[in-house]
Formats: sequence, structure tokens, C-alpha cells
Amino acid sequence: MIKRAKVTIVGAGHVGGTTAQRLVEKEIADVVLVDIETDMPAGKALDLSEAAPICHYDSHVIGVEDYEETANSDIVVITSGMPRKPGMSRNDLLRANIDIVKKVTESVVQKSPHAILLVVSNPLDAMTYVAYKVSQFPRERVLGMAGVLDSARLSAFIAMELDVSVESVFAQVLGSHGDSMVPLLRYTTVAGIPVTELIAKNRLEAMIQRTREGGGEIVKLLKTGSAYYAPSAAVTTMVESILKDKKRILPCTVLCQGEYKINNLFTGVPVVLGGRGVEKIIKLSLNEAEEASLKESVSAIRAIHQAVDQILSSPVQI
Ligand code: NAI
Ligand code: 2OP
Repeated sequence: MIKRAKVTIVGAGHVGGTTAQRLVEKEIADVVLVDIETDMPAGKALDLSEAAPICHYDSHVIGVEDYEETANSDIVVITSGMPRKPGMSRNDLLRANIDIVKKVTESVVQKSPHAILLVVSNPLDAMTYVAYKVSQFPRERVLGMAGVLDSARLSAFIAMELDVSVESVFAQVLGSHGDSMVPLLRYTTVAGIPVTELIAKNRLEAMIQRTREGGGEIVKLLKTGSAYYAPSAAVTTMVESILKDKKRILPCTVLCQGEYKINNLFTGVPVVLGGRGVEKIIKLSLNEAEEASLKESVSAIRAIHQAVDQILSSPVQI
């Protein structure tokens, strides 16, 4: 019997729920949605199952509050996390989400020791590192989603500016999922033409700034919560590349061990994403300015990795 792939999504909130919808609509996997909210994941799963006859998919989706049904997942997407609450510092949020991602990782790896872990929870670079440390999986099977989203944002702004199809735009954003992300204009093209030949420098700088603040712009507009349509689309692209062994080259947050002169740190770089997970890190040649930007991004991530190490070695519940 041919079996559909199995994807567990932990956190059935905005990103988790929308990712489940995209995956079943593409019929590339059966989905298990897990959340600590009583009944909520079951409600979303039932709603998606009732949409199936209208949308013509036969993928199955269930929603649960424990990990029994997640056993032998091919991919586990981790979106569980807490947004900042009044009175909480960034450090408090880091501690709270480390605690959540740590517990979730422990639970999923017990049931799915061969899965690929795809982390979405913020702060992304730190949470991917937590999943790696806790799972003790090889680096090929732990990665984070950020670059696909950040590159898509830059592509969208370029397409809007030039009034051309988004399909003709290819943008490349590496580094941290934060203020120090590294958009690479030399590797950003429109129908193969370097974008720098098509758009004035000051306009490009404005678009880069908008990309850096892309998450915040959506938060401001939504008033509650953060982006989920584009993030879930990014996760779905990554899941599809793995499950179909497409070997797409996508910017993903992965453990660098010497690549780009970066040692033992999770950061965004282009990788070949296939059935074995992170199959290869692609080395782009960077000029001096690009190397300096990446170095700055890396030192911001290094600081947060150190905070993770400290918190993991002295866990405190908040
Ligand atoms: P949300 O609040 O809608 O969903 C989070 C869900 O996690 C909630 O349903 C909550 O009950 C659940 N949860 C909390 N603790 C849990 C636990 N221990 N086990 C299982 N479930 C648990 O948030 P949303 O919008 O879905 O975002 C999720 C995370 O993804 C946030 O940390 C957000 O900042 C991050 N994010 C990251 C992006 C990226 O580019 N990497 C893009 C968008 C969001
Ligand atoms: C974003 O970039 C919140 O990280 C999330 O939209």
C-alpha cells in the first residue's frame, strides 16, 4: 500500500492552522495538528475535513492535545510559542518560548526519532538552536523557516515597484530573522537582470528597510497577532521540497559548521532542501560589504545562542 507522508504541526494557531490547510489542499501529506488548547486543534481539523469534499482533497487531518498520534511523522513543524505580554521583557519571552520549544521537541522526538524538524517559533534563530540541542538530531534534520519568507517579502516589494509578475523576481535574503537580516541585491534579479540595473539605489534601500521591518509592519496593521499567510506559504514550500525530494535551493536557517566562516551557529544560508533534509549548503561568493553585513548578523545571533545556552543550563519556569 502506498502511504501519504505524515506531517505533524505543533501549535494549531494562525501559522499552524494555515499551514495545515495549505498542506492538505496540496494533498502532499496527512496532517496531525497538536495544541495545548483543549478541543481547538480537533475543531480546526474537523473544519478542514469538512472542506475536503468542496476543495477535492483526500489528505486526512486530525487535531489532538497529546503526542500519541504524531508517531512516525516524516516532518514536524514547530509553531508553538507565546507572543510578548504586557510587562514581559524580550528575555522573558525568550525564556518562555525556550521552555515551550524544549518540551515540544522532547515530546516529538520520542515519537518520531527519524523526523525532520522545521522550526517556525520566534525568536527563530534561537528556537531552531533549541530544537537542535534538545533533539540531538544531526544538523541535516533540523532547520528553521525565515529566509523563504524574508526573500518573498523583498520579491513582493520589487514586483510592486516595477509592476511585473512576482514570478519574474528572484530575491535572496540571508542571515538572521531580525533587524540584522542580510538582503543580497547582487543575487536579486528580475528575469535574470540584476535588480540594481532596474531600480534606483534609494528606492532599493527603502525596500530593504521595509523587508527588515516586514514582520512588524503586519503586526501594526493586524493589531493582534502576527503574519501567517506568507509564513505558512513559506513553510509549505519547504515541506514540499522535502517530501517530493525536489532539492530546491532555498534560504533556510541551518547549523553552519565552517561555511561562510561561521562556526556552530544557526543562521540563514541557501541550502539544497530534499528528502534527506538539508542536503547541502550552497556557498555564494560575497564581497566585502556583504561579508561585513553577514558578520554583524552572526554576532547578533551568537549573543542569543549564548542566552539560550545559559537558560537551558538553568531552567526557570515563568
Ligand atoms: P498563535 O498564537 O496563533 O499560535 C501559537 C499556538 O501555539 C497557540 O495556539 C498556542 O496554544 C500554541 N502553544 C503554546 N504552547 C504550546 C505547547 N507547549 N504545545 C503545543 N502548542 C502550544 O501564533 P502564530 O501566529 O501561529 O505564530 C506562532 C509562532 O511562530 C510565534 O512564535 C511567531 O512569532 C512565529 N512566527 C515566525 C515566523 C518566521 O518567519 N519564523 C513567521 C510567523 C510567525
Ligand atoms: C514575521 O516575520 C512574526 O517573524 C514573524 O512576520
